Amino acid sequence: MCGIVGYVGKREAAPILIDGLYELEYRGYDSVGIAVSNGKELKIIKKTGRVKEIEAARSERGNIGIGHTRWATHGDVTVENAHPHTYKNIALVHNGIVENARALKEELVSNGEIFYSDTDSEVIAHLIADGYRGDLLDAVIGACGKLIGSYALAVYCSDEPDALICARMRSPLIVGNAKDGLVVASDLSAVAEEGATLYSLDDGEFARLEGDEVTVCNAGKNAVVKEAMQFDLEEGKTKLDGYRHFMRKEIDEIPEILHHSMFNFEKNSCYSDFYRVLCQTEYIQIVACGTAYHSGLCAKVAIEKLCRVRVEVVVASEYRYSNPIVPKGTLLIAISQSGETADTLAAVRLAKRKGAYVAAVVNVKYSSLTRLADAVLYTHAGKEVAVAATKSFNAQLAVLYSIVGTLAAIEKKRAPTLRGLAQKTAKTISVSEEVRGWTPYFVGAKSAYFIGRGADMCAALEGSLKLKEISYLPSEGYAAGELKHGTLALIEPGTPVVAIITRRNTAEKTMNAVHEAYSRGARIFLVTSFAEYCEMDEVCASVLIPRCLPEFSPILSVVPLQMLAYYVALARGNDPDKPRNLAKSVTVE
Ligand code: AGP
Repeated sequence: MCGIVGYVGKREAAPILIDGLYELEYRGYDSVGIAVSNGKELKIIKKTGRVKEIEAARSERGNIGIGHTRWATHGDVTVENAHPHTYKNIALVHNGIVENARALKEELVSNGEIFYSDTDSEVIAHLIADGYRGDLLDAVIGACGKLIGSYALAVYCSDEPDALICARMRSPLIVGNAKDGLVVASDLSAVAEEGATLYSLDDGEFARLEGDEVTVCNAGKNAVVKEAMQFDLEEGKTKLDGYRHFMRKEIDEIPEILHHSMFNFEKNSCYSDFYRVLCQTEYIQIVACGTAYHSGLCAKVAIEKLCRVRVEVVVASEYRYSNPIVPKGTLLIAISQSGETADTLAAVRLAKRKGAYVAAVVNVKYSSLTRLADAVLYTHAGKEVAVAATKSFNAQLAVLYSIVGTLAAIEKKRAPTLRGLAQKTAKTISVSEEVRGWTPYFVGAKSAYFIGRGADMCAALEGSLKLKEISYLPSEGYAAGELKHGTLALIEPGTPVVAIITRRNTAEKTMNAVHEAYSRGARIFLVTSFAEYCEMDEVCASVLIPRCLPEFSPILSVVPLQMLAYYVALARGNDPDKPRNLAKSVTVE
């Protein structure tokens, strides 16, 4: 959600900023801007749209600059609202949300100050400029003391044209040494190539980038010694490698990722501590958002069925305001690809205050969630660029199903095997290409429905979310048995209904719902592991996926649904990697 990059050093800043912004574009892509200074003059280039809109600014001369790609929170998508924001001698880029911006702005306006944008970020520029008494660091610390909310900031001051000041509060920020200079960015990928030694700031920390040195301190200006980040350059790379879109590429990566996620499960450094907690736990809470929430639902089905341990799954944004009951000994599993989702982080903080042991199933190293959690179980999905989560969902399932296997053994239940899932997923990907043929039935539809029971219902929910977020086709995922309790009224001749059937003992029950929908004119599509259903007259088209333990089946059955969403999005002329109104990591409440 918004991306920040900054550079100060001996090289030309503009190309470094623009290249960094391309890497960050997946975090926000409604407007873009850079500010570049040659020591005498600060040039600001801002446009609505994507990074390519400021390509011409590559030739701007200057050795210091800041850049930003925006996902609008305050104010429309306009050039005025794009970052950097300036006031007097200050220019800054900001990620996050200032919750008390309105009150601060009213006060500043009553003092006669004029604002040019509707953003909360411009308020910060005013506060810093107003508080500037010859030391930018002091001014930034002073301004941050007045802010409520979240921020990652990179600030330039024309009175100190050789330095950038950075600040972090609940929004990620990385600083470090680069080739011939210093860098700041909200995401490792923007500066990984540049940075030899990078440090992740913690909440309440400030950094000064000047000369060949990064100095970090807290609000009391006490120096903080940071540990350099360990990262693999290859991991941060985002190349299409001949694919048209990252989403399609990321689906193809799933089998290998599953292998890594499962193989490395017991190698997580906190594993033995986590295992000790798992041995004692009688109750598990899971918090997450969106796709990660759906993987939590899949875990609940598998844990309760195979381990007989009670699991509650709560949408993180609801959990935090529900005064949740957290009994002694609760294991809370927080699932997040980015590890930066504000709602999930808030839920985790609350659960910790209430005494829960928190295990994070997370993809991004050094993310905020990794620091909050008592145990971190990495998903090893690599960088996920497409806004619509695909491979990270399957990787989360690989880790969660590994937990199921461990817990089943602890509970002296028959330990389910995960063996063969990666190969079966590879097979599923190849048969899933068949869904291309389904797209004409979805492209012009008013809405679509996904149904299933148990684990199949969880896959249905995720299939529906995928379709709506990138094809913009209204869709619902349902428990198959619920269709007749209301939603059936929406079925019209031609309405596409996708049924997921991977469990033998409920297959016929789901087929009842299929018959009910078919009799009202629905066009039926099946994702199933039972060939006999594919042959039925009611079925317009089907994908036959390999069989596996039904509790683990979403790891396979979701794949054709991901592909369906992808091809329908393409057929409707959408960019599947960057759906409208969405951003990759939702760092605001
Ligand atoms: C998935 O396709 C969505 N883009 C979204 O629902 C996402 O899963 C959700 O915002 C949670 O993100 P996280 O996994 O990074 O916490």
